[in-house]
Amino acid sequence: MTAAGSPRSPQLPARLAPSILSSNFSHLADEVNSVIAAGADWIHVDVMDGHFVPNLTIGAPVVKSLRTATDSFLDVHLMISEPAKYLDDFIAAGSDMVTFHIEAEPDPLPLLDKLHQAGRKGGIALRPSTPVETIIPFVPRCDMVVVMTVEPGFGGQSFMEEPLDKIAAIRAAGADNLEVQVDGGITAETLPRALAAGANVFVAGSAVFGGDDVAGNIAALRSAMAGGRATA
Ligand code: DX5
Ligand code: ZN
Repeated sequence: MTAAGSPRSPQLPARLAPSILSSNFSHLADEVNSVIAAGADWIHVDVMDGHFVPNLTIGAPVVKSLRTATDSFLDVHLMISEPAKYLDDFIAAGSDMVTFHIEAEPDPLPLLDKLHQAGRKGGIALRPSTPVETIIPFVPRCDMVVVMTVEPGFGGQSFMEEPLDKIAAIRAAGADNLEVQVDGGITAETLPRALAAGANVFVAGSAVFGGDDVAGNIAALRSAMAGGRATA
């Protein structure tokens, strides 16, 4: 249900997308299957190249392996320079959605077209300090916009409130079914603020995989997504 005053379309579901960045990569398939069993909607895959961001993670081969382990929706977030160079690899690997950064690709339409031609979804991400105006002309062609609420590069950082101010303009520029994702520092405490601002997809890494009760963590996040009401 839409939070009071939210500009979000009431038809658009709220989705929880655990980031595997904070999972145990030595048994990734089990981690993914356990969060899906506990009620997660999508799997968020953080790809970092040590250049666009000061950290290295995983690439298309891991997406390809994950594809064999789950039918769940694979939401791949490219934090890399020159995303155009690697897009085919991520499509071939079986990504359902690929998002890339406007700071890395000022001409996003050819990438979005390529994703759509391949039958996949595509979107644009923006760093906390990037003005929303830089993406507005492209939003009508996006399936999703990723509003970063931490500086991309690492899990476990503190939530930044200010980027939420971009969401109203993104919603106004996008289709009714535009997914607006918030990524970074999402917890049961911060999620309601992003929900009220109009986001409908919530990435959470440390808030899902931290501690020893993943199912309990997901239940707390889903309760926050439902406006604080208990979810069965
Ligand atoms: C940041 C990544 C995120 C992030 C999520 O660069 O894109 O997906 O690590 O992790 P938490 O929820 O721990 O901030
Ligand atoms: Zn991410």
